[in-house]
Amino acid sequence: MQEGFVVWFTGLSASGKTTLAKSVEAELLARGLPYIQRLDGDVVRQDLTRDLGFSKEDRDENIHRVTFVAELLSKNGVATTCSFISPYRKARANARARCHNFIEVYTYCPLETLIERDPKGLYAKALAGEITGFTGIDDPYEEPENPDIIVHTDKETVAESTEVILRHLEQQGLIPPARRSAKAAQASRREAV
Ligand code: ADX
Repeated sequence: MQEGFVVWFTGLSASGKTTLAKSVEAELLARGLPYIQRLDGDVVRQDLTRDLGFSKEDRDENIHRVTFVAELLSKNGVATTCSFISPYRKARANARARCHNFIEVYTYCPLETLIERDPKGLYAKALAGEITGFTGIDDPYEEPENPDIIVHTDKETVAESTEVILRHLEQQGLIPPARRSAKAAQASRREAV
């Protein structure tokens, strides 16, 4: 049976959590993993946690419910990705304690770059005071102290960050190694002789 795991992306809004979770998911599919599930803040907040806002209590409750789902999935052999700001260390530590094979990925990007990116226009609104309690502007983000992986999304391409995560999963024995193309295998055979 496939070994379950959770790749948990934490980081500020627009830091690349969803993009990387989708990219990792696509690679897992390409490698033939049969059971894969992606849990994303923007999606989960329209359904399972649609009653919640962005106070500390509500964010903790959001992460608590998602942790429950991720725990069930990971303990039943599902390759799970979670992308949530998840700004509080204690809530992330709880997710680590409960999920099977929990891998914390900190998607780091400097705030100035996020303010430039601003795909949803939320940083502009927060800076103008039209939204209050926005993470990184006037609401806390507790950086991971000991993440399994840090990706620097201002410097790395999506493909590069995805590769780092997949290599980690391979090293942990959670996914099979990528099958190399015939051309790459041929090239390394040539090098060997
Ligand atoms: S979390 O803090 O509870 O983990 P989650 O990842 O589910 O947050 O949702 C974050 C998304 O909600 C952001 O990407 C953004 O689109 C939206 N959002 C709306 N208001 C806020 C806010 N005050 N702070 C952060 N994100 C917000």
